Formats: sequence, structure tokens, C-alpha cells
Amino acid sequence: MVTERIIIEDTHRIDAGKLERAAEILREGGLVAFPTETVYGLGANALDEEAAKKIYAAKGRPSDNPLIAHIADFSDLKPLVAEIPAAAGKLMEAFWPGPLTLIFPKSDAVPYGTTGGLDTVAVRMPSDPVAMTLIRLAGVPVAAPSANTSGRPSPTTADHVWQDMNGKIDMIVDGGPVGIGVESTIIDVSGEYPVILRPGAITQEMAGEVLGMEIGLDPAITGDGPMNADVKPKAPGMKYKHYAPKGDLTIVEGVPSRVIAAINELTRQCEAHGQKAAVIATEENMGKYQCGHVSCIGTRAREETIAANLFDILRKMDDMGVDVIYSESFYNGGLGQAIMNRLLKAAGHQVIDANTGEHKHCL
Ligand code: TXA
Ligand code: MG
Repeated sequence: MVTERIIIEDTHRIDAGKLERAAEILREGGLVAFPTETVYGLGANALDEEAAKKIYAAKGRPSDNPLIAHIADFSDLKPLVAEIPAAAGKLMEAFWPGPLTLIFPKSDAVPYGTTGGLDTVAVRMPSDPVAMTLIRLAGVPVAAPSANTSGRPSPTTADHVWQDMNGKIDMIVDGGPVGIGVESTIIDVSGEYPVILRPGAITQEMAGEVLGMEIGLDPAITGDGPMNADVKPKAPGMKYKHYAPKGDLTIVEGVPSRVIAAINELTRQCEAHGQKAAVIATEENMGKYQCGHVSCIGTRAREETIAANLFDILRKMDDMGVDVIYSESFYNGGLGQAIMNRLLKAAGHQVIDANTGEHKHCL
């Protein structure tokens, strides 16, 4: 299959005519990758089971992992869901359009091929103007997982999508690099209490404030709960190995001076053994590393810069062909909760405590 690529130069004044063909492909059951404010999505008609199957094939994604239906207008929600719980109404009003996905009981209109056999459906209204225009033009809800090969870091540029999807999908709409860089927050509002299934840019604190209550995290994310690490995540996709670079990634945590000293020692040992080492560093500490290839992930003063660069850095580690990677650790609150959730998955949960030298398995 030849993958067509179109570029939207000015995302604030979109020439809708340019997106007509993309919309037509979606209506006809084809696959179109497009930018959203979080990561690039791989879109298909959410109401067309055959189209959804093509997404699973292109990504190499297990078919029990459900897709998020993307809509462009509030009136598009009702046909997809059996009920709109009060908490959902408040969250939608506060955060839609934006990086928040809500899980609802599904209506009969949504095929099980889209929901991975579940009786619930994930819905999100993205704020990205290209995504909005495309969904509106298509005139159908658009099922879209992140547009990466299953297991690889999510794409934050059209080039990332090209690397994974060229020849496998009909079209890539290039709207430039995304703004946020980590996937949407997922909140399940289908049960008695709202629960966060995946942390994202809408933080636990932000959602809690809107609902006037503390919102819990799915125990599978925190490692709390009766079954600890064996708890099955409620978002099926959270159980799969994700984002892992080919090199062996370990997170080093502790007070900054100890982290730097530990990483310097570890990378020195790697190089002594002839291994190619890399360091994922913050701007604050960049100049303090003595060995290995040092990449800057952003500044601690603005953690959104770290979120925006995270997946690109993980992909670059593969491009550089490094054997071993050490990353600094980040504050695990606010947006940091999403950053650490992705980074820990990428590291296969391997953490070294620089204060004690202890190797740990952290969720
Ligand atoms: O930011 C995002 O959400 C991006 C952009 C493209 O919108 N999309 C995205 O999709 O991250 P994906 O498929 O890569 O991740 C969706 C996650 C998976 O972990 C999946 O298991 C979960 O959402 N999910 C989807 N439907 C669900 C449902 N009905 N119940 C529980 N989890 C669900
Ligand atoms: Mg994904």
C-alpha cells in the first residue's frame, strides 16, 4: 500500500479542502493518521468493525485492547453511550475539548470490534484544530489509538508515524509536532466512583478539584491494593509492555548529587566493558555527566517540556543504537505522574536508588 502524506502548514487557519480526501478515506473504511494535542492517532471509522480490524493489523495490536472513539462536538457523544453519569458531565464541561478520555457504558451503535469486547466505550474530544476539523469533515466518530507500532513509544511527530506506518495505512496528515507529548488521561466514570486508569495532562488534582472529591488511581498503576503487582489494570492496554527502547533502560533516583555520581560511575563501567551508554538528563544537570551520550529531555522548571520530549528521546535511543541507558527520575505528582508512569514502563520498572545503591522494581 502507498501511504500518502499531506502537510497542514498553518494549523490555525486550516484549508479544509486539504482534509477532504482524508475525511473521505475514513468514511470509506480506510486508515488515516492525524495529529492530536497529546500524540498522533491512527484513525478509522469507530462504527465500522472492519475498519477497526485494520487498525489492529497495522499496529500489530492485540485485539482485546479497546480503542478510543474521538468526537468533535458534544452532540456526537449521546449516540455512543448508554448513559452520561453526572461526574462525566462535570469533567467534560471542564476539560473537553482536551486531553481527557472518559469511559462510559456503551450504546448498541458501538461495535465490540472497537471496544475489544467490552460493554464500555472510551470517548475523547481532542482540542487539536486539525483533529477537530478532520473528525467533523468525516462525519463519523473516529477510533484512534496512538499511531505507533504496538510496544513502541507513541508518535509525537509525523516522522515518528512514518517510521512505523509507512506502507501500512492510507494517509498521514502532518500537522507538525504535538503540544503535550503524553497520551490523554483516562478516567472511568462507568462505575460507582470515578477512577483514573491512565495518568495524563489532566492531573489527579485537576480532576479532583472539578468533582469536589479525591479521585483514586487504578491500583494496577500504583501497585496498591489487595493483589499488589498482580492486579489486572482496568484499561487493558496498560498491561502490555510499552515504549521500551532496544537499549536496557534504568531509572536512577535519589538526591541530585548522588544520582549524577551514580550515573557517572555506571556509564564509566559500561564504556569500560565496550558498551555504548546514554544518559537521559535534565537541562539543570546536563553539564555534569562525564561519560556516554547525554540527551537533554527538558527542564525541571517546566515539566511540560519533559513530557513533550519523552517519546522522541526514547525513539532516538533506538536510532543511536545504544546498549544501556540511564535516566534521571522525576517528581511523581501533577504532570510528573504521567511522565513517571511512561518512563517506568519504558524501563521495565527497573530503578536504582542512588542513595543506597539498591536495585528495585517500581510500579
Ligand atoms: O491521547 C490519547 O488518548 C491518544 C490520542 C491519539 O487520542 N490515544 C491513545 O490511544 O493513547 P491508545 O489506544 O494508544 O490507548 C488507549 C488506552 C488503552 O490502554 C486502552 O486499553 C484503554 O485506553 N481503553 C480504551 N477503551 C477502554 C475501555 N472501554 N475501558 C478501559 N480502558 C479502555
Ligand atoms: Mg498507545
